[in-house]
Amino acid sequence: MCALNDKVVIITGGSSGIGRAAALSFAERGANVLITGRREAPLAETAAGHPNIAYVVADVSRPDDIARTIDKVANLWGRIDVLVNNAGAGAILPLSDATASRIMEIFAVNVIGPSLLAQAALPHLQAAKGTIINISSTFGHKAAANLSHYAASKAALEHLTRCWALELAVSGVRVNAVAAGPTESGALTGMMALSPQQAAAVEEEERKQIPLGRRGRPHDIARWIVALADPASAWMTGQVVSADGGLNLT
Ligand SMILES: NC(=O)c1ccc[n+]([C@@H]2O[C@H](COP(=O)([O-])OP(=O)(O)OC[C@H]3O[C@@H](n4cnc5c(N)ncnc54)[C@H](OP(=O)(O)O)[C@@H]3O)[C@@H](O)[C@H]2O)c1
Repeated sequence: MCALNDKVVIITGGSSGIGRAAALSFAERGANVLITGRREAPLAETAAGHPNIAYVVADVSRPDDIARTIDKVANLWGRIDVLVNNAGAGAILPLSDATASRIMEIFAVNVIGPSLLAQAALPHLQAAKGTIINISSTFGHKAAANLSHYAASKAALEHLTRCWALELAVSGVRVNAVAAGPTESGALTGMMALSPQQAAAVEEEERKQIPLGRRGRPHDIARWIVALADPASAWMTGQVVSADGGLNLT
């Protein structure tokens, strides 16, 4: 039997891309998975893909929604073993165009939401000796022009990963991050708000820059999320695992 059988997993942003692939992978291994997102239709569609997946419509940047997410999982399964902070916000945002509200929007989803969700889940994670997995980006540790606030928010998430790992080790809670490189998902046209033409141009440029010669697929990232959650990774905490075809090396 798989070590993840009957474990309870929360994945924010579980209705598309990396979060969706992770939700299906956990469910196929026998885990019960609660996915969140702002739109109901893609959540329902993902949940229909496996009977172990349930959903709640919740925006990770809203404290009330965080409380509802924890209530939902507690009512459904009464425990939390794994929290995956996957939902992200970002924008191609040159410094000259940045405004307080656009910067705050990015940090609300990428830094404040994961912090408040981790805090709310903490008693359950401590009881289960569970684990937190934060989803970062190559640009959380590699400079990128016109992406500074997205990149800085992911750098913050990577450092929260290390600080929480140290703080929570005493209670047996492990904290790690997966830093994804450019990945086929809804992110460029959704999160980054590019037109299909702009997205195609960015994708072509990324393919040229990635040493392994292609963009990632959601399962290339999801397999590391699942691996870090597996008890076989019990000796690993405070690490940022890059899954990006070598982009961080360039
Ligand atoms: N794709 C890439 O190239 C790439 C590269 C590096 C890192 N990442 C990171 O990987 C993570 C997942 O991205 P993805 O590429 O899989 O994106 P995606 O395909 O666009 O999926 C994003 C998911 O997050 C949900 N979401 C967005 N904002 C949310 C919010 N405020 N509260 C709750 N859910 C929210 C979306 O659903 P709703 O829209 O319905 O809310 C959707 O389920 C992000 O943290 C991103 O920064 C992606």
